[in-house]
Amino acid sequence: MSLLSLKDVTKAYGGVPALRGVDLDIAPGEIHALMGENGAGKSTLIKILAGVVSPDRAAISLDGKPVHIDSAQQAHRLGLRFIHQEFNVVPALSVAENIFMGRAYPRRAGVFVDWKKLNTAAQATLLKLGITHIDPRQKLGTLTLGDQMLVRISSAFVGEAGAPARLYVLDEPTAALTSEESERLFTVLRELRLQGASVLYVSHRLDEIMTICDKATVIRDGRSVDTGKIADITHDDLVALMIGRRVEEAYPRQLTPPQDHIIFTATNLTIRGRPPISLAVHAGEILGLAGIANAGQREVLRALFGDLAPASGTMGLAGHAYRPRSPADAWRAGIAYIPRERRSEGLILSRPIFENTTLPHLKAQSRWGTFLMPRRERRLTEERGQLVRLKSAGPNQRARELSGGNQQKVVFAKALVGDPRLLLLDEPTRGVDVGAKFDIYSVIREMAARGMAVILVSSDLPELLGMADRIAVMRDGAITDIVAASALSEEMLINLTYGRAQG
Ligand SMILES: Nc1ncnc2c1ncn2[C@@H]1O[C@H](COP(=O)(O)OP(=O)(O)OP(=O)(O)O)[C@@H](O)[C@H]1O
Ligand SMILES: [Mg+2]
Repeated sequence: MSLLSLKDVTKAYGGVPALRGVDLDIAPGEIHALMGENGAGKSTLIKILAGVVSPDRAAISLDGKPVHIDSAQQAHRLGLRFIHQEFNVVPALSVAENIFMGRAYPRRAGVFVDWKKLNTAAQATLLKLGITHIDPRQKLGTLTLGDQMLVRISSAFVGEAGAPARLYVLDEPTAALTSEESERLFTVLRELRLQGASVLYVSHRLDEIMTICDKATVIRDGRSVDTGKIADITHDDLVALMIGRRVEEAYPRQLTPPQDHIIFTATNLTIRGRPPISLAVHAGEILGLAGIANAGQREVLRALFGDLAPASGTMGLAGHAYRPRSPADAWRAGIAYIPRERRSEGLILSRPIFENTTLPHLKAQSRWGTFLMPRRERRLTEERGQLVRLKSAGPNQRARELSGGNQQKVVFAKALVGDPRLLLLDEPTRGVDVGAKFDIYSVIREMAARGMAVILVSSDLPELLGMADRIAVMRDGAITDIVAASALSEEMLINLTYGRAQG
């Protein structure tokens, strides 16, 4: 008998259908993948299960008995645990406080929080994920994104008397994790499966799904498409089920080779006391920045984007000295930046898509006044939106109402509206579905063909190898190698990033 069964789940937002009768069956002790393109309805289904969104229609049963889930507390009592796609943590609180958020803190004499006990309990929870390098007393906001994510994940694994966990639901948990961190999570998931718990797992990383999941259910446009054992399906078939067509190649071909003239140079930049770095990017060139987590790639991007002042060194943009004092400065100079953390850095969630894509441009062209946005910008918004295959109700839809992957695409569209000279990309396809990835890659290629220079930071090595012309490898804050991508294999690149000798 199935642990959890969902039948005919239907939900429309303001008359627009998000789910049109989805069925899902999860057996005890299985890791079940929920798959589908951006906007297919995965997060909506999960929020319904979590009791935070109410469906128009749904029949849910647990252990064969019908249940109604109308609140988060109710879902918790039923043994369901969630890690939602959105970041719901409080950076100003400690790691331990975040882990136990919304739960009873241990108290002394019933009133005062027993901090020592709280910290010890948090440490024990972290240890379940094999995490020893995070101090529970640290403020969450001081941790790296990956570590913050690990803290969020561990909070779902807090043991509780009275409501044993039956099903863990994880909505894109690895989107901000390095491969080492993801591996740790998988070990925990396998352990939970051994103990008889089930997992519902959402990810756009197919290789992950092929390795850790037992079954998969694919939804498309709010409808169930197929469900079956992972062992019975190939990677390519899964892709075809999700997007309704076959993808012949993962990366679009280069349109024109890089040009001879240099758009951007950095010479002996020292950032945060790390070794000086130098690099140059040509017009039409895509320069990849590779490295393990915290090797310095992000700091380089931030320095180039005026978010972090280098202690010394010089930069040049299109033949002029370039020394940005702020991101706004960098933007005016013709540098666009796509941040990795789109929700906090890239978007104003309460504002419409249209404003999100044109806001920085409004500032740049204020001589027209704020409200006289030239029609050209609106047209560009729509055109760029189409390029990245943005799935929305229209340019007036609020960013908050978009699915996670579509929010990412808005950030992308925003950067492209201004026709920048240098495009800085930090994990541009994280959380983006396979079909849309290809579209984003095509846009990057097109931008390069127009003479733009591109710097691409990515932890996805095939992506770096498939897209970059040259790859600069960073280790401990230094650029240790710059190699033509065509001369590298994935294994060679891994060895370079870890600093192992080539065999
Ligand atoms: N609060 C909301 N208001 C209006 N529409 C919404 C809201 N939340 C989601 N939608 C719409 O419902 C559809 C499904 O969104 P959902 O977030 O479930 O997609 P998803 O499968 O999780 O996609 P992704 O992989 O991008 O996270 C989308 O078209 C989205 O725009
Ligand atoms: Mg989602």
